[in-house]
Amino acid sequence: AVLIVDFGSQVTQLIARRLREAGVYCEIHPFNKAGEALKTVAPKAIILSGGPASTTEAESPKADPALFEASVPVLGICYGEQTICAELGGKVESGHHREFGRAEIVITRESPLFAGIGGVDHRETVWMSHGDRVTAIPEGFHVIATSEGAPFAAIANEEKKIYGVQFHPEVMHTPRGAVILKNFTHGIVGLSGDWTMAAYRDEQIAKIREQVGDAKVICGLSGGVDSSVAAVLIHEAIGDQLTCVFVDTGLLRKDEATQVTTLFREHYNIPLVHVDASKEFLGELAGISDPETKRKTIGRVFIEIFDREAGKIEGAEFLAQGTLYPDVIESVSASGGPSAVIKSHHNVGGLPDFMKLKLVEPLRELFKDEVRALGRELGLTDAFVGRHPFPGPGLAIRIPGEITPDAVATLQDADAIYLEEIRKAGLYDDIWQAFAVLLPVKTVGVMGDARTYEKVLALRAVTSTDGMTADFYQFPWDVLAKTATRIINEVRGVNRVVYDVTSKPPGTIEWE
Ligand code: XMP
Repeated sequence: AVLIVDFGSQVTQLIARRLREAGVYCEIHPFNKAGEALKTVAPKAIILSGGPASTTEAESPKADPALFEASVPVLGICYGEQTICAELGGKVESGHHREFGRAEIVITRESPLFAGIGGVDHRETVWMSHGDRVTAIPEGFHVIATSEGAPFAAIANEEKKIYGVQFHPEVMHTPRGAVILKNFTHGIVGLSGDWTMAAYRDEQIAKIREQVGDAKVICGLSGGVDSSVAAVLIHEAIGDQLTCVFVDTGLLRKDEATQVTTLFREHYNIPLVHVDASKEFLGELAGISDPETKRKTIGRVFIEIFDREAGKIEGAEFLAQGTLYPDVIESVSASGGPSAVIKSHHNVGGLPDFMKLKLVEPLRELFKDEVRALGRELGLTDAFVGRHPFPGPGLAIRIPGEITPDAVATLQDADAIYLEEIRKAGLYDDIWQAFAVLLPVKTVGVMGDARTYEKVLALRAVTSTDGMTADFYQFPWDVLAKTATRIINEVRGVNRVVYDVTSKPPGTIEWE
């Protein structure tokens, strides 16, 4: 493995991502725990990340000296380069010459770090983001590239295999950054790049076994991709020490609850408690129209029910969660523990009992697409792992105004037809999220000889890469036309269908 020592850069995750894309397994550990990590990870190489601090300040984070004595190659990126210089006898000064954005480096000396990039005098576009800069390098080091703002844009001690770059090879704006990182991991360190999801799965299984021992684990299953993949992985590791608790809010898509229970019970043989709580949720939601109150009510009821059900599983010591890497908001300064994520959702009253359980989070190091790959590795189908995101409060936030059992049933039927038509047209994977919204508005229509007065259904579909921004999807008209006809003919209570052509911003993806 490669040990990535995190100094708090916004883009540390991307270093991990680039390495994994090149088939190299790596782990990110906060700088203040790097000494420990050195022992547990036994890395073949170390990468020091960027970070917001300035080495010129006394309190600034330092790389544990043990890292330089581990006799493995080291690559420092941005702050990482600066800390190498500050600690090994060079000099860093606070920048009067800040450099942010695109820059050009010039290679000044042959180095394996630039293999395939170019030789002396070659110019290469990179992404810089630094205030401080190195002004003197430690003994044994050479400058291998310069830039206008950074005379020591890249440095190397080829003998000790310690490298530093002032730019960020991990970001897309450094077009050939991946080549440079690969030169380090493959060329300089000699890793073969044979790490795969299969290997990750085996490693995680071993880790889960070690963490859990023979204790019992509860997993809250939502039916979504993340919790499902986590559950299947944990089950593979510890078998029936795992019990899944599926709190069915009654606000899922049509037939989804059945699909989840069938998949888990019959296909994977995983013990599953299916809590049909639809009456309880709908009861608590009765009379509520305000979107935020809906969300809070659902959150509260969910926790009450989950706590009650989890309490019935005797002797459980662990709670499994499908937390992903982007959810892990573990800042370097607050790298105390993994509990930050779960607590942020619920801050009312005392902690429910299940929150006192220790956490098992086998997806903590993965990005969404890697979770999908792991899911496939575990035998989940492409259709299952590729499903569109679905919000926790479910259909409740797709029925503006009051939620009634009838409205939920109508929406489920319409939504199912919409998704079926999208799948039939082969468009499902082009779309980030597609769903229907049942409006509390009635309009006049005519069906046969009769006048109708029924609700309006809005269809929404967007493309996006992360849900933060989105464009409305430009459907072929015939798909929309067919969907509308089918919904009006087949779903009672709807006589008009409209398509939402709002992008985000200014709209949000959901209607509430
Ligand atoms: P918006 O509507 O904010 O949605 O543009 C962005 C993404 O977040 C999902 N979403 C939610 N997910 N609980 C969730 O778990 C929520 O309350 C919630 N609201 C929105 C939405 O489906 C989209 O993927």
